[in-house]
Amino acid sequence: MSMEEKLQRLNELRAASETGGGKKRVDAQHARGKLTARERLSLLLDEGSFVELDRFVTHRATGFGLEDKKFLGDGVVTGYGAIHGRLAYVFSQDFTVFGGSLSEAHAEKIVKLQELALKNGAPLVGLNDSGGARIQEGVVSLGGYADIFLRNTLASGVIPQVSVILGPCAGGAVYSPAITDFVYMVRGTSYMFVTGPNVVKTVTHEDIDMEGLGGADVHAGTSGVAHFAHDSEAESLEAVRELFRFIPQNNAELPPRGAGTDPAARQEESLLGIVPDNPNKPYDMHHVLRAVVDDGYFYEVQPDYGGNILTGFAHLGGHSVGIVANQPAVLAGVLDIDSSVKAARFVRFCDAFNVPLVVFEDVPGFLPGVTQEHGGIIRHGAKLLYAFCEATVPKVTVITRKAYGGAYDVMNSKHIRGDLNLAWPTAEIAVMGPKGAVEILFRKEIAEADDPEAATEARIEEYRETFAHPYVAAGRGYVDDVIDPRETRPRLISALDMLQNKRDANPKRKHGNIPL
Ligand code: HXC
Repeated sequence: MSMEEKLQRLNELRAASETGGGKKRVDAQHARGKLTARERLSLLLDEGSFVELDRFVTHRATGFGLEDKKFLGDGVVTGYGAIHGRLAYVFSQDFTVFGGSLSEAHAEKIVKLQELALKNGAPLVGLNDSGGARIQEGVVSLGGYADIFLRNTLASGVIPQVSVILGPCAGGAVYSPAITDFVYMVRGTSYMFVTGPNVVKTVTHEDIDMEGLGGADVHAGTSGVAHFAHDSEAESLEAVRELFRFIPQNNAELPPRGAGTDPAARQEESLLGIVPDNPNKPYDMHHVLRAVVDDGYFYEVQPDYGGNILTGFAHLGGHSVGIVANQPAVLAGVLDIDSSVKAARFVRFCDAFNVPLVVFEDVPGFLPGVTQEHGGIIRHGAKLLYAFCEATVPKVTVITRKAYGGAYDVMNSKHIRGDLNLAWPTAEIAVMGPKGAVEILFRKEIAEADDPEAATEARIEEYRETFAHPYVAAGRGYVDDVIDPRETRPRLISALDMLQNKRDANPKRKHGNIPL
């Protein structure tokens, strides 16, 4: 065979590998409102940057007529490319080939990428669209999943791992995305469940469709399995690209600096009017965050879940930061099970990947109630406490209003290694709110008073004067400074500059035992 003939054969094979399961199946994929595996990669990666690996791999299974049914690539496109000019490894399951199901060869392709990503210290993004284990391959396929799960776990905290669910993701297959750091889903076309609607119907007699059982809104809003839900694949993939503006390539690297030109010294007048005079009135913490961060841009993580706490990334004076903020506009900003778990996982991601933590605090305490207690608020609240305690990245807190009870300790207080703790003059730092405290301390006196209401008010006023301000904490050094709210941005940037070479470590151990 001449060189020319050999090249022709190569080009034919390359072209064949790019046709997936054939035109009919590609048309069906498009008819469902879904893109093909390769179209998705071209949206995710910088133009022209994708380099494919293993395009000639096929399955080795026999039986069920599989000998004559082979597709180059075997249902997953793998390789590497760039996101904003930085290396990323990617796999994209091809639903047009055996429903994107995972064979031994398909799993080996993903494992090869996981090992490359880990060895070379670069993120791995998985685009999932699969009918799960390749039924014809039986236990070999299950083994392939386990190989992937193991490497997901070994890579956790070493390189960022992102999962985008763009079709079915069912059965044990869900556990690879579940171990990764961020899960993106698309409304109407992506589903995650351990057992599908038919099994659910048989076992529990519940009637529910795929969207209702495991669609994007369910997982982004109710279960907390997903971090983001979008209306289209293009939006979802763009959001993944955006995430990469804030996170480093690996745990030995600092996150990328922001490119914004927002002046570090900018003082923000609007911050003076945000906290209402009445301490029981809510306000939207988003306004505070947007007024403070570079160019008002806050990349919110899990915006639809546990809304009483806000988590997300921003740049502050160019520093990438992870923000954790109580949200007084939802449930008065209390800590409950969902918000504790949400914030704990976010704090641990930031700590693993050298992203400084900035906390905005306005928290009346933990949510009381039988549901919370029986649901394990003690165990779940402890996750957030543990996460903040063990974090060694720069940690800065601004108390805007309430810092009550155990929640004061939890929200990155000085006592658990907060590096710089600031308070606005509106801060109230106490064991509990004035009304609750007075009712406990002066119950007898109030009951015996001629005018119980007036007696209560007088005691509340006294309590406020004693505790409802930041100066006792500042007098002890638990708060490093009380600042004019307008100075929040320059003071935070100055803190982050000051802390940029921070070195801290935890005792040597195999690993801690976070209350799971
Ligand atoms: C082999 C599969 C397959 C699978 C789909 N196909 N799933 N082939 N193994 N698991 C093939 C179909 O035969 C079909 O081939 C093509 O993919 C498209 O499938 P359709 O059923 O036509 O598509 P659709 O109607 O959209 O339904 C998609 C689906 C359904 C909901 C995913 O195919 C389905 O229920 N599949 C089985 C899901 C499942 O039970 N998987 C195992 C879960 S347990 P042709 O040739 O006709 O195009 C698991 C364990 C993980 O995954 C282990 C971890 C511990």
